[in-house]
Amino acid sequence: MTSIAEPRALDGQKLEQFVYRAVDEIGATLNAALVVMGDRLGLYRALAGEGPLSSGELAARTGTAERYVREWLNAQAAGGYVEYDPEGDRYTLPPEQAVALTDEASPAYLPGFFQIALGSVVDSPRITEAARSGEGFGWHEHGHDVHEGCERFFRPGYNANLVGSWLPALDGVVAKLEQGARVADVGCGHGASTILMAQAFPRSTFVGSDYHEGSIETARTRAEEAGVADRVRFETSPAGAHAGDGYDLVTMFDCLHDMGDPVGAARHVRDMLATDGTWMIVEPAAGDRVEDNLNPVGRAYYGFSTLLCTPASLSQEVGLALGAQAGETRIGEVVESGGFSRFRRVAETPFNLVFEARP
Ligand SMILES: C[S@@+](CC[C@H](N)C(=O)[O-])C[C@H]1O[C@@H](n2cnc3c(N)ncnc32)[C@H](O)[C@@H]1O
Repeated sequence: MTSIAEPRALDGQKLEQFVYRAVDEIGATLNAALVVMGDRLGLYRALAGEGPLSSGELAARTGTAERYVREWLNAQAAGGYVEYDPEGDRYTLPPEQAVALTDEASPAYLPGFFQIALGSVVDSPRITEAARSGEGFGWHEHGHDVHEGCERFFRPGYNANLVGSWLPALDGVVAKLEQGARVADVGCGHGASTILMAQAFPRSTFVGSDYHEGSIETARTRAEEAGVADRVRFETSPAGAHAGDGYDLVTMFDCLHDMGDPVGAARHVRDMLATDGTWMIVEPAAGDRVEDNLNPVGRAYYGFSTLLCTPASLSQEVGLALGAQAGETRIGEVVESGGFSRFRRVAETPFNLVFEARP
């Protein structure tokens, strides 16, 4: 027998609280654009390490228009990004915010996170249409802010963790890299991870690959700028078509779940690896169950997954669409289906899970 649920009584207070919370989130949504604006115009950098500045002083130091800068500062003050002194009509960037908003070397650096979020929102009308038809939307179809924001978002975490803790957590890999290993970094985007590894292990050689030609062109420029172009080659190829075998290490940073056919990619990695080679998979932090991910990091990642990762996978053959919150068990199933016999989690941060897979 079908039972009809009683409609729940409306709680006016809860409704009011929800609306107030939403007002804060509207401010936060707009703040994504304001942070990108402050980063591009050099407003945070000009405020960092300085005493209180007036809007006129900040505008003069950054070559910007005072009326815009005043309004931007007031929005930043209302959001707690800068402090306002009403007596002197001046604004201060507290030291913690200065690190998070200006120090590219800090793992707390945020502008890239905002840049990829803004780029995703800007591209969202296309995703809304795709959600009607079920069609995908490829990584290559997104705008510059998604591609560059991705690089700038992930790089501080790789700087902080990759060489110091993630690679050492893999069985015997650092010793091979120090002696001179062959490494393939698949789905490398702008090559931040590839270049970082090349700088740390001068005796090893590296091939970065990605199906997106524009990203590979940028990666080549980055390698030249970093002075490692002699040992780092970048090529445009999808994960399942990357040429060559006998690799000591294959890495995938935050890209396996974006692929249409991650099982096919896993099989291909198995073929690329030397007999005792290692596949390192870095994936977004996630629990196995939806309810494990109902927290601020999960919220951001489900958001990116809706606008970027899921459509990217659906745009490719197979279209498995793991999503950014697939979790360890699901990733392990993919790895095992690809022919790997050993799989374990070796490290984690608030933003990433790091896995080791062996043939
Ligand atoms: C979230 S980005 C991560 C980029 C880079 N690994 C990083 O950590 O900055 C995902 C990357 O996966 C790439 N990608 C998606 N599907 C791919 C495929 N089938 N083969 C190769 N690369 C792929 C995209 O082009 C994009 O560069």
